[in-house]
Amino acid sequence: MTENHSRRGFPVRGATVLVTGANRGVGRALSRECLTRGAAKVYGGARRPEEGGDPDIEYLELDITDPRQVADAAARCGDATLLVNSAGIFRAAPLLGARSTADAREEMETNYFGTLSMIRAFAPVLAANGGGAIVNVLSVLSFINFAPWGSYSAAKSAAWSMTNSVRDELAPQGTRVVGVHAGLVDSDMTRGMEYPKISLDVFVAALMDGLENGDIEVLVDRHTRAFKALLVGHPNNQSEQPSPESVAQ
Ligand SMILES: NC(=O)c1ccc[n+]([C@@H]2O[C@H](COP(=O)([O-])OP(=O)(O)OC[C@H]3O[C@@H](n4cnc5c(N)ncnc54)[C@H](OP(=O)(O)O)[C@@H]3O)[C@@H](O)[C@H]2O)c1
Repeated sequence: MTENHSRRGFPVRGATVLVTGANRGVGRALSRECLTRGAAKVYGGARRPEEGGDPDIEYLELDITDPRQVADAAARCGDATLLVNSAGIFRAAPLLGARSTADAREEMETNYFGTLSMIRAFAPVLAANGGGAIVNVLSVLSFINFAPWGSYSAAKSAAWSMTNSVRDELAPQGTRVVGVHAGLVDSDMTRGMEYPKISLDVFVAALMDGLENGDIEVLVDRHTRAFKALLVGHPNNQSEQPSPESVAQ
């Protein structure tokens, strides 16, 4: 850990926000909640911006796997102070039982590389605007693997690791980085799954409360908290900077 990640809340009131995947599901609900909490402006990134439908949100075409669209978004949203990475895909595929590695590659391309590309593009924007904050929407499957959905687990675990690394890299410029983990949330992604689900309202409130309270990791539901507790400690809990020798032991 290169920086003491002290608790410092990020107020949504007055922020200029870009939410990815803003046309439906979690991204749409988060965009709306930012306005409710007093954001000055909300940009909604979407592959099909015409689906957004909220007159108070400024939609832009944004496929997070398209480098040109990511660069265009960073240029257009030069006033952003908060980036919320919600866009993601879930192929419900095992690693070995799938016919090919196509699903695993797509999930990694979107959930890991797409999110990383957004952070790389927006880090200078946030720095220029005083530091700001980034929220990455992750999953309980960052912490545990579930074999029938193995490739999603791997991609979300990679994104969790990336979240913790960029938190350290961006600390010197004053950018807070928050990871949000939850079990099943009631959206298109989980349609047809007959399991208990977290409502969009509860998910969005937990995320925003955590961001505003200064949490760097938000564990939305009790199952996610229980699974995280089975791992040991804080996500950036190294007492000293790890060396290749220390991580090899
Ligand atoms: N639902 C859950 O149970 C759950 C639980 C924990 C975490 N999450 C995470 O929460 C996030 C949002 O999921 P959700 O429940 O809202 O899913 P969803 O209802 O399936 O919506 C996914 C959103 O991501 C967008 N998206 C996918 N690929 C994209 C790309 N390459 N570029 C830009 N946008 C893209 C979709 O756009 P299109 O309309 O163009 O497809 C859609 O807006 C995801 O990261 C997901 O992994 C979900």
